Amino acid sequence: MEKKFKRTLITTALPYANGPVHIGHLAGVYVPADIYARYMRMRGEDVVMIGGSDEHGVPITIKARGEGVTPQDIVDRYHSIIKESMKGLGISFDVYSRTSSAMHRETASEFFRRLYDKGEFVEKTSMQLYDEKANQFLADRYVTGECPHCHNERAYGDQCEACGTSLNATDLINPKSAITGNTPVLKETKHWYLPLDKWEPALSKWILEGHKEWKTNVYGQCKSWIDMGLQPRAVSRDLDWGVPVPVEGADGKVLYVWFDAPIGYISNTKEILPDTWQTYWKDPETRIINFIGKDNIVFHCIVFPAMLMAYGDNFQLPDNVPANEFLNLEGDKISTSRNWAVWLHEYLVDFPGKQDVLRYVLTANAPETKDNDFTWRDFQARNNNELVAILGNFVNRAIVLTHKFFEGKVPAQGALADVDTQLFAGIAKAKESLSANLDTFHFREALKDAMEIARLGNRYLQETEPWKLAKTDMERVATIMNVALQICGNIAIAFEPFLPFMSEKLRTMLNMGAISWDDLGKSDLIAADTAIAPAEFLFEKIEDDAIDAQIQRLERIKEENRVKGFKAAPQMENVDFETFMKADLRVGTVLECKKVPKADKLLQFLIDDGMGTRTIVSGIAKYYNPEDLVGKQVCFIANLAPRKLKGIESQGMILSAENADGSLVVMGPSAPVVPGAQVK
Ligand code: MF3
Ligand code: ZN
Repeated sequence: MEKKFKRTLITTALPYANGPVHIGHLAGVYVPADIYARYMRMRGEDVVMIGGSDEHGVPITIKARGEGVTPQDIVDRYHSIIKESMKGLGISFDVYSRTSSAMHRETASEFFRRLYDKGEFVEKTSMQLYDEKANQFLADRYVTGECPHCHNERAYGDQCEACGTSLNATDLINPKSAITGNTPVLKETKHWYLPLDKWEPALSKWILEGHKEWKTNVYGQCKSWIDMGLQPRAVSRDLDWGVPVPVEGADGKVLYVWFDAPIGYISNTKEILPDTWQTYWKDPETRIINFIGKDNIVFHCIVFPAMLMAYGDNFQLPDNVPANEFLNLEGDKISTSRNWAVWLHEYLVDFPGKQDVLRYVLTANAPETKDNDFTWRDFQARNNNELVAILGNFVNRAIVLTHKFFEGKVPAQGALADVDTQLFAGIAKAKESLSANLDTFHFREALKDAMEIARLGNRYLQETEPWKLAKTDMERVATIMNVALQICGNIAIAFEPFLPFMSEKLRTMLNMGAISWDDLGKSDLIAADTAIAPAEFLFEKIEDDAIDAQIQRLERIKEENRVKGFKAAPQMENVDFETFMKADLRVGTVLECKKVPKADKLLQFLIDDGMGTRTIVSGIAKYYNPEDLVGKQVCFIANLAPRKLKGIESQGMILSAENADGSLVVMGPSAPVVPGAQVK
């Protein structure tokens, strides 16, 4: 660290209390933040780590309505699950509070009121969709209708999930209220806007000039927002769940969730430090670090800082915002609504005592510079091949040999040989890299540096072979075992930020007292004659059946989603029999099939149609390897007027069925038939 700070305030994105936390949240935010906080504490820094649940926003009200309970019921349920499970994983929050607390409501209210009184908002009226049956304005998520782009009939007012376009509810064709099914009407409403444009020069100077050291993904996103030009942002909503807008004439209006949530960092600091919280927020010698995921960057780097500047009173801006990318699960995007996740509270039940394994795997695969993937096979392999085979194995050998040769007492260290001093030089080097990586939020690399110490330990025992020397030179064996135990002590220190459960167990085994980062690298961490506890395995092998059970669970969920996500399209208008009979449907055999150059959707078929051969072009290239279709029989419309696709004349159309996810399955006979057979 270049600049010296007096204290560090670590904030972690407040998770929405509309579901439990999953590995994506952990890898992106809580595990890295916890590593950093633990590291800073070991360095003797004054650290506060703030967490809490984000309990407002529309999705929580939708979930409540769906279950027929109140939003408060929903957040009570998930707040306690989240809080307990984070504690279970050893995430060392100094406070984990919630935005439905009285303290928060008061703080957020006062914040808004001060900005209002200072004239920092602009008031604007706009037209919003209103449900006259339910007597309320509809948040974008509460409106469904037809997507103006792809004509999916089940698009949401904020986004069409079929084509991915983000929408405004007023863009939808045929909008319907999700509450009553009624067709909403447009009605005028007033809201308060924070003019971000006013803060643009200050934000630009602060980030684009002042924080070139930020991660490129963060800096890049900020730059593109600022380059596009900042617009005023509404900070209130027509909703009955949230912090009421504290001004006259604002009935039925609450603070927008992204206005109140970051203020939660302040409310939660107040809650644990009622007397000194201001020092943590307003003293320029405090260093504020925001741990977040990439979808939160604009709020933490643009909106909240603008709010803090508008508030004034010396509120400090973050020193760094080390946002991560996303973690996927077995190749697919993690999704709470599709239950595509590994849930922390379930993991803790399924893998008791294995908190550190998850922390290790999530750190090793942290999506620091790009999206990354979690797979159960990788989880198993990293446990078995790294934690068990390298780390656990070394510590176990050192302790077992100490019991074997020295009755469990640390032998005295004699004169160090070259191999010993080289070893400590190696540890010193690993420490240097480890500290530098932790200082700069490169936790994956940092974990490798810590692991290097265990690797050095294994190599050391391999090279010195104390079990052989024991017959001839017990004095040398004493030094080797002393050194090996010092490495164990170093491991306990180096891994404390990453694997705190293992570290504590190891410290107890080694009878170590309090540890500090300064001790890392020392060759006299553990005094001669210290009694060592009998060896216990730090990690155990994870067998296939535990992993298979998890993989099967995910397969079940995939299958459920396939069925659940599907709503059959409404039936089309009737046609009379004669009209239907005009379509000449046939079966043909695929003779050749190949990709159409420069058209990633199209396959070109040569079909034996019983009368000769014909060419048909079909838009199924995404779902098939052309080779796999050769020899198959397919149904096609023979008398469809020929049309040109990418310059190729298609003489008919191959029939396919569309699956829930939009993928296509080619139709064919259930038993072989002669080519040219008519389908009736
Ligand atoms: N609840 C938000 C999310 O999960 C994060 C809120 S962070 C805070 O994306 F700053 F607003 F608290
Ligand atoms: Zn669409």
